[in-house]
Amino acid sequence: MKCALDNPGLISLAAGFVDPASLPIDPTRRAVDALLSDPARGRKALQYGTTIGDRSLRERLVRRLEQEEDALPGQFAHVIDRTVMTNGSQQLLYLVAEALLDPGDIVLVESPTYFVFMGLIEARGARVIGIETDDGGLSLPSLEETLLQLDEAGDLPRVKLIYTVSEHGNPTGLSLAGDRRAPLVELANRWSKSHQIYVLEDAAYRGLSFTGREPSSVWRHDEDGRCVILARTFSKSFSPGLKTGFGILPEALLDSVLNLKGDHDFGSNNFAQNVLEQVIADGSYDAQVAWLREVYRSKCEVLLGALEEHLGGVEGVSWTTPKGGLYIWLTVPEWLDTGKDGPLFSKALEHEVLYVPGSYAFPDEPGPVPTNHARLCFGVPNEEQLREGARRLAEALAACGERVA
Ligand SMILES: Cc1ncc(COP(=O)(O)O)c(C=O)c1O
Repeated sequence: MKCALDNPGLISLAAGFVDPASLPIDPTRRAVDALLSDPARGRKALQYGTTIGDRSLRERLVRRLEQEEDALPGQFAHVIDRTVMTNGSQQLLYLVAEALLDPGDIVLVESPTYFVFMGLIEARGARVIGIETDDGGLSLPSLEETLLQLDEAGDLPRVKLIYTVSEHGNPTGLSLAGDRRAPLVELANRWSKSHQIYVLEDAAYRGLSFTGREPSSVWRHDEDGRCVILARTFSKSFSPGLKTGFGILPEALLDSVLNLKGDHDFGSNNFAQNVLEQVIADGSYDAQVAWLREVYRSKCEVLLGALEEHLGGVEGVSWTTPKGGLYIWLTVPEWLDTGKDGPLFSKALEHEVLYVPGSYAFPDEPGPVPTNHARLCFGVPNEEQLREGARRLAEALAACGERVA
């Protein structure tokens, strides 16, 4: 980010930020006007809220989940009391880690995964172990194999959490296949021998599908509600500046998470929650999401097209084709190190294009960490910059040696 500020000509395919041009200024202004022109609602919005979050917003979110997940009206009413508003989904990830993990505990993650999450797990002194992924996300046979090995080593009691970015994931853009979702819950429950192994479903990019509705969430398959922690956010689908998300927690985790949240902030930004409730109620939230899907579908197509134009057919170079979200995952030949101190990164800087080195997204265990990937985000650059960014990246690759020329 600092590089981007120092050099305004640089095209950043690195920043995982949303498209600036489509931020919802008008709907937000109308919502704020509506709230503040009604003194009773204005006062409510400007007052402290509660630690768990605004009741009517939580009810509304649960009703929307019923529709999204093809449930009957009222079918999820019992989870309203386990639905917690948070400062973005990041806060929920943090609170769950703090509530659940002791030093030496183990968290199983997709490899590659959202690197910020790994950082916060490691900060708690816990171990992060990567599980193989393919085009359908987390590989369940690999997950099972890792659990078996941990059990044989006597480490199963330390396994507390399985983390999945289920929809259009960061960094690969790929989703957990619909037919792996119920089996993932079944597997986690089956291996919960001495204690519950939780599945933390981070659905930060849910809703931003280019191709229609996503499959039912992993959470939907947790019928007795004791296994899956669902983390959702409005950062990607509406505005990161409102920094509001929500989580649905199994009963056993609720009190400890709420107590920690109370210590942090005794409640997320109440004004932002009221603004969100207003935009959801007046229909502008859904209109915004529908528009964003088109914006990102088009930007993704442009970047994919430019990669094909400049790198198509180059030996050892490939990339994912996401069906939603903000990211494309690039693979280059194994001999080419994409890391910060490697040749591609410095050539990319010379050519004024930035990416996130893929090695950041892999846990050290089981290793070795692959060094030939890059995360490309099409959130911030406009379409012209995306075309130019791909062209510059191809130049940087070609400059790294004849083998990719
Ligand atoms: C996979 C994933 N989870 C969670 C977050 C946190 O976002 P927020 O706290 O704004 O909801 C991000 C942000 O980029 C993300 O990519």
